[in-house]
Amino acid sequence: MNSRIPLFAANWKMNKRIADVSPFMVKLNQGLQKLSKKAGSDFEVVIGPSATHLAAASQAVQGTPIELAAQNCGHAKSGAFTGEISPEAIKELHCPWVILGHSERRHLYLEDNGLVLRRLKAAWEEGLKVILCVGETLPQRKSQQTTKVVEEQLQILKGFSPSQENLVIAYEPVWAIGTGENATPDQAQEVHAFIRGWLKQVFSLSLSENTRILYGGSVKPENSKDLMGKPDVDGFLVGGASLEAESFLGIIENGLKSRG
Ligand code: PGA
Repeated sequence: MNSRIPLFAANWKMNKRIADVSPFMVKLNQGLQKLSKKAGSDFEVVIGPSATHLAAASQAVQGTPIELAAQNCGHAKSGAFTGEISPEAIKELHCPWVILGHSERRHLYLEDNGLVLRRLKAAWEEGLKVILCVGETLPQRKSQQTTKVVEEQLQILKGFSPSQENLVIAYEPVWAIGTGENATPDQAQEVHAFIRGWLKQVFSLSLSENTRILYGGSVKPENSKDLMGKPDVDGFLVGGASLEAESFLGIIENGLKSRG
């Protein structure tokens, strides 16, 4: 038996005003209270606002089950790194999670696996929990390189001893992000199963069985039930559809329906 509690994470990217944060959290929390009674099973919710919004978000989620994620973190504890966000300060804001290796960071800001590795190291040294994003572009998929690319992105984990508590993997095919075209449940399942197999081969059966693997890329209330109906899809990393509490709640509610 695995111990994978479904996880629903929101990636707000560079959206929302700071003033929007508190009303959103109030609405989300009310919805979550109702949902947890209805769902009857456990699940976790993580919201990833911009770094500028984390302090307000941190206050707003006090006393709720909602946890926070930063969208990136610096590769060192502190120092002369203009524009970077220190993992130490993220922790200080009571934000336990950080998203690393998002495809927008990789493609728009040219973060390569080496840099993601250094950020990962800094995050784990600070005790942050990491959502590591992996995924292929459309040309890579078309030329049958999906698993090769995903494996290369996973390789950075090799020097560490990750645990099911401090690591979540998000499979986000680049062609599905913000395009309205999600991977089919079968396409997602195929890559998730590959990732789980890789974790078993490189680390252990226990890590492989207990690590949550999220799907991301045009997730919405209309497709979350079918996607989560697949055995290796343990939740989502949601961009656009996480910006309104109603649609994010719809994703969670429908996703959990697949769990009976
Ligand atoms: P999307 O983004 O849900 O808007 O496709 C997902 C992501 O980038 O994490």
